[in-house]
Amino acid sequence: MNRVSHIAIIMDGNGRWATQRGMQRIRGHERGAEVVREITTYCANHPEVEVLTLYAFSTENWKRPKMEVEFLMKLLENWLRKELPTYQREGVRFETIGDLSKFSPRLQERIAETKELTRGNRKLTQVLALNYGGRDEIIRACRKACRAGVELNEANFEEFLDADLGDVDMMVRTGGEQRISNFLLWRAAYAELFFTPTLWPDFTAQELERLIEEFKGRERRFGAL
Ligand code: IPE
Ligand code: IPE
Ligand code: MG
Repeated sequence: MNRVSHIAIIMDGNGRWATQRGMQRIRGHERGAEVVREITTYCANHPEVEVLTLYAFSTENWKRPKMEVEFLMKLLENWLRKELPTYQREGVRFETIGDLSKFSPRLQERIAETKELTRGNRKLTQVLALNYGGRDEIIRACRKACRAGVELNEANFEEFLDADLGDVDMMVRTGGEQRISNFLLWRAAYAELFFTPTLWPDFTAQELERLIEEFKGRERRFGAL
């Protein structure tokens, strides 16, 4: 049976969830944040899962209306403040990938502080992908290696990525679209893909559990026979 160590999720469908209910899109993001807590807690208590990487804001999401972008920034800042007790109680270490330099100094400080305070937690590493693009991360990694005068190969490349997370085992996308949208291009090379029509605010730990069951039964060949 396959071991599931790293789960990555494209949390899509917040806007549609709210619009379907006659609410503003931002209400969907608010509800989505609650689901992040439920899924993180589930993964922290799962015997195999070590890393949970969540796509929260892409390098392309700046194209959205200013009001929505500003709301998401505020939501993230409040979230980090509010969730610290959950991280500590559930033994979750907080990590990020993505180019944080585009965020406000205040938000950057909050992120750094949360990482520092949760550094010793061991049950799960929760990684938020913030201003993250798979292409952007690869280009920045190449530049870092170049500046350090290191010749890149498949074994040392990960050292230059934003965080050392290892390969993705399962990549899940909620919200019905069947695409990668520039997420984890390097680490998802042999990830098993799962697409569910469930909108992110309706996603539950039970559904994730069913997807993990399905993952267990899949045949991962990695190019061999
Ligand atoms: C995903 O939900 C959350 C972010 C991209 C921040 P969306 O906001 O993309 O929701 P839909 O896809 O428009 O329904
Ligand atoms: C992907 O969702 C990004 C996040 C979930 C943060 P999008 O809604 O931005 O992706 P597209 O535009 O449908 O590809
Ligand atoms: Mg979307």
